[in-house]
Amino acid sequence: MKKDLVSIADLTKDDTERILDLAAQLKKNPAFRRDLEGKTLALVFEKPSLRTRLAFEVGMAQLGGYAVYLSQGDIAPGRRESVSDIARNLERWVDGIAARTFHHSTVRDLAANSRVSVINALSDREHPSQVLADFLTIREKKGDLSKVRLAYLGDVNNVCRSLMMLSSLMGTSLVVAAPAEDVEAFSAEPAEDLHEGEALAAALKDVEFHTDGNPRRAVRDADVIYTDVWVSMGEEDRADQKRKKLKGYQVNAKVLAAAKADAIFMHCLPAKRNQEVTDEVLDGPHSVVFDQAENRLHVMKALLLLLLGGRMEKAPKRQRVR
Ligand code: CP
Ligand code: NVA
Repeated sequence: MKKDLVSIADLTKDDTERILDLAAQLKKNPAFRRDLEGKTLALVFEKPSLRTRLAFEVGMAQLGGYAVYLSQGDIAPGRRESVSDIARNLERWVDGIAARTFHHSTVRDLAANSRVSVINALSDREHPSQVLADFLTIREKKGDLSKVRLAYLGDVNNVCRSLMMLSSLMGTSLVVAAPAEDVEAFSAEPAEDLHEGEALAAALKDVEFHTDGNPRRAVRDADVIYTDVWVSMGEEDRADQKRKKLKGYQVNAKVLAAAKADAIFMHCLPAKRNQEVTDEVLDGPHSVVFDQAENRLHVMKALLLLLLGGRMEKAPKRQRVR
């Protein structure tokens, strides 16, 4: 695996399988690895978080390590101090950095300027640790990822971009139903760098876009329906405009009924209830959103073990007991 997980473009198919397999193993036996004894992770978070922060903090604790949370008020990347200076300080004390930032370039610059591993904990462009946990969930519920049809409805955002790249990498069929102007704008956006550009170009070839405003058609034959908030963190100034534009993409009982009878509903959470998804669907029998949230922990532990120097082989007996 590469030193950093800034983008899904940093992963190969083998890396992804290794992460998912280790996460599944950790889920069955949460206490069997203590490889991060004495290791520290810095959490550089410019935006709020429940799941990601807890998955990192609890994950580090379960693996024997320690996490230090630094909010925007603490270090203010780019304002109090340059991102590269923050990276060059942090690497002197910690073994890894998880960063949730407004600009993707902040995560990339932290990675480029530190010798320790940097994990993207959500940026404006991507949410890689989220979609890895989502794919663990899909694999648990539906089996072979290459036989799954996933339909994403609504805002073409950071989660959607990571889903596109990971679906393409794993051979999962992905339908994205969104307004035509959003799909056009997304396709025309310049890539962050050559490396990401190649992965995105491959992903764009594989995605089936539905821009006819009829989500019920888009979810036909879907095994999984996925949505996310219409207004992401940092986009509050465009909230009204986005809500108006995406109104027709709500996942409700009618939309769910148009998918396969055993389709599951996924959402990375937090949800704006009765906006992008109705209570009926979110709390209904098809919803797996809390399994998805739980899997954030197992996947985070796998990532931490692989990136912060944990060994892949089974821990010796004496280390299995916490
Ligand atoms: N899904 C997710 O990343 O949740 P948080 O914003 O609460 O971390
Ligand atoms: N797209 C959302 C995901 C939150 C986990 C956001 O960026 O706010």
